[in-house]
Amino acid sequence: MELVKVDIRKAGIELTAELEAQAARANELLCSGKGAGNDFLGWVHLPSSITDDELSAIEAQAAALRAKADAIVCIGIGGSYLGARAVLEALGNPFEHLKKEHDNPTVIFAGQNISEDYTAQLLDALKEHSIAVIVISKSGTTTEPAIAFRLFKEEIERRYGKEEAKHRIVAVTDKARGALKTLADIEGYPTFVIPDNVGGRFSVLTPVGLLPLAAGGVDIRALIDGARRAEAATACSVPAAQNPAIVYAIARNVLYNSGKKVEILGSYEPALQYINEWWKQLYGESEGKEGKGIFPASVTLTADLHSMGQYIQEGERTMFETIVSVAEPNHKAVISHDNDDLDGLNYLAGRRISEVNRMAELGVAIAHVDGGVPNLRIEIPAVNALTIGALLYFFERACGISGYMLGVNPFNQPGVEAYKKNMFALLEKPGYEEATKAIKERL
Ligand code: PA5
Repeated sequence: MELVKVDIRKAGIELTAELEAQAARANELLCSGKGAGNDFLGWVHLPSSITDDELSAIEAQAAALRAKADAIVCIGIGGSYLGARAVLEALGNPFEHLKKEHDNPTVIFAGQNISEDYTAQLLDALKEHSIAVIVISKSGTTTEPAIAFRLFKEEIERRYGKEEAKHRIVAVTDKARGALKTLADIEGYPTFVIPDNVGGRFSVLTPVGLLPLAAGGVDIRALIDGARRAEAATACSVPAAQNPAIVYAIARNVLYNSGKKVEILGSYEPALQYINEWWKQLYGESEGKEGKGIFPASVTLTADLHSMGQYIQEGERTMFETIVSVAEPNHKAVISHDNDDLDGLNYLAGRRISEVNRMAELGVAIAHVDGGVPNLRIEIPAVNALTIGALLYFFERACGISGYMLGVNPFNQPGVEAYKKNMFALLEKPGYEEATKAIKERL
């Protein structure tokens, strides 16, 4: 069974031989390693190259943390955060906190902001819980997670002592460089390596994503299996028209060149909301450079039809939408019959809620297409570890192809440094004296 299907029929796009050849050449650059940013192509074969031993080591570490803690704080930002959060939210039960018994520890995220309130409230809320920390930073020097880690390290040492901290703190970082690696080595924390050739936003299938996911109870082997199947389905040997990553990349580039500068990713399953966030980073950081690139936006449906729906239907005609469509729900809820029928809903009695959701999806697609918003559809059979693994890899592969078609290096992010320089200058970080003087004059 195909795990990811792409349907571009509602986008009014013809796959010409020229477009297919252009996209196939872009895909070939990912295989040959001859394109821009080729020192960051480690993600291309991650699913097929990760070994059983590597997965076992991650599972064993996750089991050790699970045995110690009922709350695992996962510290990281950007590519060192969004993938794990996206998958956990997609596969978890959003109402887990209402249950009395829990099968898995709660995985909570920190270091993805510099909010004093967030940090203080989290530390306070964890007082009654047994805690462990997974700290993730490739560079090992990112300010947001470094601040959070300092506080959580102190909390763990205060509660359990420095010796026990070695069993409650795990670092995922570069194999040799960075402050986090140095600190982890000195303190004796177990470490997992983020490969040199895998950039943050492409790292969800490394320990960056896999360790917190395994700690949260996700079947990471099924996730990798799904990704492996997507790697095979999008390989360079697959003809362009049958390659879902190529078809999606072509559609995006044709739409962009026709004036559609915004892509709205949406789903009718709220569980996929953080997949949207992960996707926004993946595409925004990969393509938004040199004055080019589709602006990645997102909606969660049908909720946002009641807020963003008006704009999508009738606002600026510069957007297209991509819907991640889920063929089958995992659970069953049927609309009941009511003798009084005061709400007039008896015409739906006996039908599943998913049927109504499906009709909303179909109706909205047609309305938006009629309103000048082309519609791309990416279908997965259901939401589970296998299909989410496939979806993640599919998006990564399509992003690499799409970036090369756009003519940018999809694997760098020079623009993210600008704010950091200003922030350090304002905070009077040693070494920034000149910049501090200059920026203060501009305040
Ligand atoms: O994609 C990226 O490279 C960024 O989003 C990084 O993941 C993010 O800035 C965090 O970096 P680090 O893992 O070095 O702390």
